[in-house]
Amino acid sequence: MSLKGRSFLTLKDFTPEEIGELLDLAADLKKKKKQGITGNSLKGKNIALIFEKPSTRTRCSFTIGCVDEGGHPEYLGRDDIQLGHKESVKDTARVLGRMFDGIEFRGFSQKTVEDLALYSGVPVWNGLTDEYHPTQILADFLTIREQFGTLAGISLVFVGDGRNNMANSLMIGSSKMGVHFTILAPKQLWPKESLVALCRTYAKESGSQITVTDDINAVSGADVLYTDVWCSMGEEDKAAERVALLRPYQVNAELFASTGKDSTILLHCLPAVKGNEVTEDIFEKYADVIFDEAENRMHTIKAVMVATLGDTVGKEA
Ligand code: CP
Ligand code: NVA
Repeated sequence: MSLKGRSFLTLKDFTPEEIGELLDLAADLKKKKKQGITGNSLKGKNIALIFEKPSTRTRCSFTIGCVDEGGHPEYLGRDDIQLGHKESVKDTARVLGRMFDGIEFRGFSQKTVEDLALYSGVPVWNGLTDEYHPTQILADFLTIREQFGTLAGISLVFVGDGRNNMANSLMIGSSKMGVHFTILAPKQLWPKESLVALCRTYAKESGSQITVTDDINAVSGADVLYTDVWCSMGEEDKAAERVALLRPYQVNAELFASTGKDSTILLHCLPAVKGNEVTEDIFEKYADVIFDEAENRMHTIKAVMVATLGDTVGKEA
């Protein structure tokens, strides 16, 4: 099946088979890169990287993924372009679509990335918005596959701010791929009921279970604990309130012991605020897998670009 020409705005738009195909391609590109083999499927392609918010992993992944495949990435930071200051999203999209072959966007509004896709006429990739972070989920799922050999039937518990981009996108991805998914968070930080209901319709197809709870005992039996910062980018003013709400939900040795399994791993999209959502000792205990996950951002983002824009999927240099 071909994903050529498609944008990557939210996992809602992709079937389980398509998500699986992107993971397979990422695994293949990763294997090749380890053998010193890169490709040329983006040769002659110019790729705009728009960042309204800062980034380490996502920016570097798009840059390296693009260069590895022979393309040219152009970083456009928030103070570098007219977008958000003097020019509308619609006009910026129409300009960039005339010059670039693909556009990555990281920023605040999901509507912005959707409008870029609507008006640019080229594939647009969501590098994180307030609502979703879909490329991160591909890296998380590749890592889970590497660790457990499968996705279906794995039990994943997200602990923390249950209404942020990570919780939303993990819930969508899990419900599509047959991962049993729990959001463990105080009631004030639960996701929108409409999104939970939508994910339950996906879960019905895939055989997964979606749970939203404030009961710490929900970690029992988890294969993967997942956490994220308590204050996402743009919410820094909520720090005191979040610490008060989320302190009982810190991922620490006691919480890990409550899984009742020795094989449970920790994933974190990073960056991490140690001492808040995760203790230093637990972070370090699972550092190898967490940094595999960070590395996998590059292989999976490369796969998204190659699948949606590449001329010769998987062709060797
Ligand atoms: N996980 C992630 O998106 O990291 P960056 O903010 O560094 O891109
Ligand atoms: N929820 C975090 C994710 C960072 C990758 C944020 O939006 O800041």
